[in-house]
Amino acid sequence: MSCLRMGWSNFRFREKPAVGKIRSQRKTKEQEGHRPGEALRVLISHARIRAKVVEMAREIRRDFPDDTLHLIGVLKGSILFLADLARALGGEVSFDFLGVSSYGKGTDSTGEVKLTKDLDVGIEGRTVLIVEDILDTGLTLKYLLKLFEERKPKHLRVAVLLDKVERRITDVKADYTGFAIPNEFVVGYGLDFDERYRNLPDVCVLQLGSRGKTKNE
Ligand code: PRP
Repeated sequence: MSCLRMGWSNFRFREKPAVGKIRSQRKTKEQEGHRPGEALRVLISHARIRAKVVEMAREIRRDFPDDTLHLIGVLKGSILFLADLARALGGEVSFDFLGVSSYGKGTDSTGEVKLTKDLDVGIEGRTVLIVEDILDTGLTLKYLLKLFEERKPKHLRVAVLLDKVERRITDVKADYTGFAIPNEFVVGYGLDFDERYRNLPDVCVLQLGSRGKTKNE
């Protein structure tokens, strides 16, 4: 808490914290990662994620109070978000999943997206919600919107938990967004680094090396 928010009078009479206490506070801000040289800093706590998911679910249900919502999770990062969102939505919900792979993300190459696993059932006439953990360049979502629009759903909407607005190179945007985040490499709550960290309850910034360099610096 800053001294401005505490008020100056409270601040003046606060005891100076012991050095050990400062160190332990620092430790909670930057935790050790899975392997040497990897450190984690909580960016969005699980409590904040939980509250936001409930808020997003309410908004989505308000828009489609009577529809069966057909949630399409993009493997694999979206699965924790989809599971929590589905429970918060209430009413009738069905799921399907698809897999994509992208090439040359964040480089000068084509940024081509390919389908690695198609949906199990058709979406014609359904109220479809694409569920994504993160919107980055926007290439994946652009590809998916085009693919799904051709299949004639009744409604097609997009929910993303995290939006790295700065990284966008296409003109897509989500209908429901959890958090706009800075351009830092994030893991947890479904997001991975080399398939690790997906099971962290918080969204964390992954820092590599002793100087706290983030992965995509
Ligand atoms: C992430 C995310 C999106 C995509 C977004 O998947 O789940 O599908 O990247 O990036 P874009 O906006 O630049 O296209 P990722 O490729 O990391 O695979 P994963 O979900 O299996 O971890």
